[in-house]
Amino acid sequence: MNSIGTLFRITLFGSSHGTCIGCVIDGIPPGTIIDEVAMAEDLALRKPITGIGTPRKEDDMVQILSGVVGGRSSGSPLTIVIRNKNTDSSAYEKFRDVPRPGHADFTALLKYGTDVDIRGGGQFSGRMTAPLVAAGTIAKEILKGIGIRTGAYSLAIGRISDEEERVLDDILQIRSLNPTRAADAMLGTCMEEEILTAAQEGDSVGGIIKCVCENLPIGIGEPFFDTLEGEISKMIFSIPGVKGIEFGSGFAAALMRGSVHNDTFALHGDKIVTLTNNAGGVLGGISNGMPLEMRVCIKPTASIGKIQHSVSMCDMKQVELQIGGRHDPCIVPRAVPVVEATVAITLVDLCMRGGFIDGKG
Ligand SMILES: Cc1cc2nc3c(=O)[nH]c(=O)nc-3n(C[C@H](O)[C@H](O)[C@H](O)COP(=O)(O)O)c2cc1C
Repeated sequence: MNSIGTLFRITLFGSSHGTCIGCVIDGIPPGTIIDEVAMAEDLALRKPITGIGTPRKEDDMVQILSGVVGGRSSGSPLTIVIRNKNTDSSAYEKFRDVPRPGHADFTALLKYGTDVDIRGGGQFSGRMTAPLVAAGTIAKEILKGIGIRTGAYSLAIGRISDEEERVLDDILQIRSLNPTRAADAMLGTCMEEEILTAAQEGDSVGGIIKCVCENLPIGIGEPFFDTLEGEISKMIFSIPGVKGIEFGSGFAAALMRGSVHNDTFALHGDKIVTLTNNAGGVLGGISNGMPLEMRVCIKPTASIGKIQHSVSMCDMKQVELQIGGRHDPCIVPRAVPVVEATVAITLVDLCMRGGFIDGKG
């Protein structure tokens, strides 16, 4: 459905080429600073980038319709609206008959019927993630109150991969200057080339986003079913184009011995820490006080320029499809702030449920 969260709850509405997109956020502690400048900065990270992004202009001017008085949350539901402009939907009509391979046209039409809004990808468009980024700015502000910081960056795009351990301050600073949202300028240039090469061939590339969260108290996560990994994963899989998530050493754990994978406990002053972080900051679905670390796999963009095979559903015949319009040859850079925002939103909800954040402000 279109709402997520228990005590910090987001309801998403709108569609890519409808009047607007937006969200209602319930559970913001009264008095929380609603920083519209920070919101605009986060949204700027999600915009298409000249050269490596779609040439379409996404004007993400946020309007806050309720829940704020004098720049602070009033405690009542906060409504964010982003009006849609620049919407030529004509290129999408043919997907009602001939669905794009890899996109949601096929399943949306079969599940919801011909009344479904397919313009610009409708509710399945990456555009739906803009209000989530705006909500994420508020979530990060709430987390700041208990010292938690989050940051995401492009770990890999196509064949170019970042093998270095990165510090959160560097991630936040460098990725903003870098169109690919890499945490290293040189790697960013190589990633740009990787995207441009695919785009010139009428193709697309995917990649991996890494997200790191620091200063989590021990105890976030509500087993059995609402574990820290489980709640984050559910939220992450709502981002269009996500195909996987791993925490800590993730799938590589399958190749390790227990003696290597186990994170040894040690004393650091009066704190118990682990010497490695193969667990990615989670044990038994509960934060263990180490940094929460995850990697999110983003698929190559479905809408590509190359001629592809599909089926005309009216004629029940195999046909060739060439997709026009404006599409990102790589979603990864634009999904970086979305991953960061959705992780922050989930952490706020779990922190409220665990009593780490007082929802009453
Ligand atoms: C920020 C963002 C931008 C996106 N832009 C495009 C795009 O230009 N073209 C496209 O085909 N898919 C794009 N997507 C991905 C599709 O929305 C997604 O692949 C589609 O809805 C099918 O869902 P699935 O990939 O999760 O199965 C984008 C996703 C995000 C998060």
